[in-house]
Amino acid sequence: MRMYDIIQKKREGLELSVDEIKFFVSGYTKGEIPDYQASALCMAICFNGMTDAETAALTEAMMRSGDVIDLSRFGNLSADKHSTGGVGDKTSLIVAPTAAALGVKMAKMSGRGLGHTGGTVDKLESIPGFKTTLSGEEFMDTADKVGICLVGQSAHLAPADKKLYALRDVTATVDSIPLIASSIMSKKLAAGAHSIVLDVKCGSGAFMKTEKDAKKLAETMIAAGKAHGRNVRALITNMDIPLGTAVGNALEVAEAVSVLKGEKRGDIYDICVELASNIVSMVKEITTGEARALVKDCVGSGRAFEKMKEWIGAQGGDVSYIEDTSKLFGRYCKREIKAAQSGYISAMNTEQIGITASLLGAGRIRKEDTIDMSAGLEVFKKTGDRVGAGDVIAVMYSSDASRFDNAEKTYLSALTFSDLPVEKPGLIFGVIS
Ligand code: URA
Repeated sequence: MRMYDIIQKKREGLELSVDEIKFFVSGYTKGEIPDYQASALCMAICFNGMTDAETAALTEAMMRSGDVIDLSRFGNLSADKHSTGGVGDKTSLIVAPTAAALGVKMAKMSGRGLGHTGGTVDKLESIPGFKTTLSGEEFMDTADKVGICLVGQSAHLAPADKKLYALRDVTATVDSIPLIASSIMSKKLAAGAHSIVLDVKCGSGAFMKTEKDAKKLAETMIAAGKAHGRNVRALITNMDIPLGTAVGNALEVAEAVSVLKGEKRGDIYDICVELASNIVSMVKEITTGEARALVKDCVGSGRAFEKMKEWIGAQGGDVSYIEDTSKLFGRYCKREIKAAQSGYISAMNTEQIGITASLLGAGRIRKEDTIDMSAGLEVFKKTGDRVGAGDVIAVMYSSDASRFDNAEKTYLSALTFSDLPVEKPGLIFGVIS
């Protein structure tokens, strides 16, 4: 078999066989197939898609490219959650400790930033000492004792996805249903959790721009999970506005803490309640309504925040940075963005807002870039809000002030204004199970 022929076949829109997909996945994982051929194939998949059978074969091959974790010692208590990627999406930092405080075993693998979206592992690395790489034994012990363990993708777990993920991030080959579905589900299946909640984002800041595509992605991932005997639900959620107010790594950790401390409500709290309630409902086999009451009480009583501190400490993180999140920020510069006109914000191009955060240093432009943990944005006004000319609508943070001009231009170009009142957008478009 030759990689050249596989690329050509997909470029012509033909269906690849299971053996061709296995050949690609195994060759790329071993380093026998170079990045340029893998990116050519990913681009052909972006243009021509994959059949359900090809997507299933790609998911299976990537899942089997490394170890498959056995969480059977937790019975049906193990659960995982995954977002398809968004802007300001710090839900894992809130949902995981909340579910764990309610007895769920959250043994979870998370990703780094991808394209214009942030990644949980990058966010957690803004906490000094926090280890996102643990041995298999440490991972299991922490999940067992604390009820939560969250690590980056190890070299042993779905390594094919790990390599492809980094490649797709910089070759404009992220937003493809088969590539996203196989990337997410290969990891989720290899990570072993019995119940999985998927947060499928939809809108200008998501990889899926329409509700129809988001639903198709959700159904593809649910089918993959069910084929492997897992309990899977998907929430289709709005990514036409950034989630919460913080976009950037340390900023998002600080916002997650304020939600768990009960200081912050709004869209980020509401969505986390729904995600956690669906996990708890699946694991405890209770209704979502019953689970929601437990979740709200768990956050409101401070138990979820206590669990977060226990978890951060158990993975080597300095808990004083969670108790006082101002410590998370190194030396940084700050600049306000003011509205040039008055009116109602009628749309936010949320992908551009994610790109603004990257331009400030919060994301990677090239694979080898390091992240400025303090960089990012606080977004004060969102779609439906009225602003007056000169009002501060956002604040930018970066350790490099020369980045501000370009970032501000990008941010302002993301906003559309209307003279007439605009309805606030909905948050959750549906739950699929
Ligand atoms: N999250 C993933 O893990 N993979 C993708 O391809 C997109 C979002």
